[in-house]
Amino acid sequence: MEEVFVRYIHFLGIITLASALVGEHLLISKKMDLKSFKKLIIVDAIYGVGAIATLIGGALLWFAVGKPAEFYSSNFIFHIKLTAFVAIGLLSIFPTVYFLRNRKSTSDFITLPNYIVKIIRVELSLLVLLPLFGALIARGVGNV
Ligand code: HEM
Repeated sequence: MEEVFVRYIHFLGIITLASALVGEHLLISKKMDLKSFKKLIIVDAIYGVGAIATLIGGALLWFAVGKPAEFYSSNFIFHIKLTAFVAIGLLSIFPTVYFLRNRKSTSDFITLPNYIVKIIRVELSLLVLLPLFGALIARGVGNV
């Protein structure tokens, strides 16, 4: 029963993270009015909460409930999945830092640097692969 709850946390985290990232992509533009920019900052915070829930759920599935930790630790696809997750996390630092630095802006419009939009696109592209890795790992594909 514990495992079902932990899986639920993992999936809820993934849903939150993915929907927030899509939301950011839809909301963002090169020139943004202050109201939309503030909305973007809130969506980015929701994205952070989703990422933390995904990580906590994933780490508990790895070490605390379900299959033994070794089942995952010895799987090379699991390491690719972790690397992709860490890459997404590291990339997301750049937009978050930019949003927080400009959160107190009082100008009517914010002009965002191009790299912010590009980073969000790369994050989305990496994210698409992760459920596939998750499903393969669960079935033992990649165990050496
Ligand atoms: C956005 C990132 C992630 C996505 C989209 C994702 C996706 C998934 C999916 C779809 C499953 C279910 C597989 C199945 O039952 O068929 C799963 C399970 C799992 N995930 Fe993740 N995951 C993510 C991040 C992580 C992270 C960061 C960790 C480790 C810290 C992790 C560890 C696990 C573990 C251990 C399982 C259980 C696999 C099993 O049932 O044997 N995941 N994940």
